[in-house]
Amino acid sequence: MAAHRFMVASLLLCCFLHSCYGVTFSSLQRTLVVTASPTPGQVVKAGEDQITVTWSFNQTFPGTDSAYKTIKVMLCYAPISQVDRAWRNTVDNLAKDKTCQFQIVAKPYSPSNNSFTWTIEKDIPQATYFVRSYAYNSDSSEAAYGQTTDAHKTTNLFEVQAITGRHVSLDIASVCFSAFSVLSLFVFFLVEKRKTKMSQQK
Ligand SMILES: *[C@@H]1O[C@H](CO)[C@@H](O)[C@H](O)[C@H]1NC(C)=O
Ligand SMILES: *[C@@H]1O[C@H](CO)[C@@H](O)[C@H](O)[C@H]1NC(C)=O
Repeated sequence: MAAHRFMVASLLLCCFLHSCYGVTFSSLQRTLVVTASPTPGQVVKAGEDQITVTWSFNQTFPGTDSAYKTIKVMLCYAPISQVDRAWRNTVDNLAKDKTCQFQIVAKPYSPSNNSFTWTIEKDIPQATYFVRSYAYNSDSSEAAYGQTTDAHKTTNLFEVQAITGRHVSLDIASVCFSAFSVLSLFVFFLVEKRKTKMSQQK
């Protein structure tokens, strides 16, 4: 019994430590070269426009990529779109970091000739962004990164414009309309049924 408790306790502690002391961003080296198609300051539309991202290992970086197994490319909030929004906070512990919330693509790692074209998803909030990719090693922890902006995240940013109010209200109108048609069909059916019943009783 005591041994059992001890095991549960150590298991819990393990999970706890893992989430508290995950990989920190500041410990990662910037070994990936990442580019994205939007020009600095460009406004791209959610649900319509496409972004092409390329990434590769920096060949002049003094180091190796032999531990990298997978890569994830993410859309990340620029500091200007994080102000007063705790739910987008940058935290050095990557398990808690909320800078990069939208995955563009995840792939097995390859050192060069990587490119992916992504249609910006409809539900991407209106904000200023950059693109970052993380390389992961075999135990799925972050091993390195690369990004389209500088270390202070101030250069080469672009904006995503959300689906406009007009589109949204049109969407709402069409949802209401279809709900209404289902309802009227149902009412019609009930009325018809009652009519048949009444005529049968006569
Ligand atoms: C590649 O790595 C070298 C050496 O660390 C560095 O000087 C250079 O700026 C890097 N290039 C890019 C595009 O990040
Ligand atoms: C990358 O693509 C270019 C052009 O398609 C090709 O010439 C080159 O050999 C490729 N490099 C690798 C490492 O696959």
